[in-house]
Amino acid sequence: MRIDIITVSPELIKSPFEHSIIKRGIDKGIVEVHFHDLRNYGINKYGKIDDYQFGGGAGMVLMIEPIDKCISALVDQRSYDEVIYMTPDAKTLNQQTANKLSSAKNIIILTGHYKGVDQRVREKFVTKEISIGDYVLSGGELAAAILCDAVIRLIPGVLGDETSALTDSFQDNLLAPPVYTRPSTYKNMKVPDILLSGNFPKIEEWRHEEAVKRTKNIRPDILNTTNE
Ligand code: ADE
Repeated sequence: MRIDIITVSPELIKSPFEHSIIKRGIDKGIVEVHFHDLRNYGINKYGKIDDYQFGGGAGMVLMIEPIDKCISALVDQRSYDEVIYMTPDAKTLNQQTANKLSSAKNIIILTGHYKGVDQRVREKFVTKEISIGDYVLSGGELAAAILCDAVIRLIPGVLGDETSALTDSFQDNLLAPPVYTRPSTYKNMKVPDILLSGNFPKIEEWRHEEAVKRTKNIRPDILNTTNE
């Protein structure tokens, strides 16, 4: 998969791609990530990329021309499955969206800043808008990094243990069950006997029951939903 990230703060977003699972995906050649500094497409020699909003009001708006130039340069070279705009005024990211995106070949992620982007960008270039939650960040960079993490770890070959992404929370509209490791007793706190029994069908049953219990308690809203 190739991911092109358009941003006004490339330095802010680079770090998560240099560590852990995302780095592993990149090192294995399964995913490549390219950062594009929007200022390189600015409309004057100072790299102007934003302006006041028409109609008045506080906050600067990213202009259409630099974004058009950047996206057009990318689209001229290859076709993209999605042009994604990170914004709080969109549907919230969930595991199903991450699953779908993990099979894309090329995606562009546009990160907003200030008051956002000129609406015409959203109408003309953007094919999917994603929020990471009902709160407002200073920019879309961290949101884009979160989206990339959620997607990249699902691409086959990125995680060492192929099955571990399948047992994550949300994969089947359930939160993950509790997990334990050694020692089996710590300061009188015991691991549930069933996990030490070696009876794997029973262990699976127990895990499912615990997952349902946890979901009913904490996130009843995701039980029996289709996720989108
Ligand atoms: N940009 C600012 N806030 C955001 C959010 N919650 N999700 C995605 N992009 C954002």
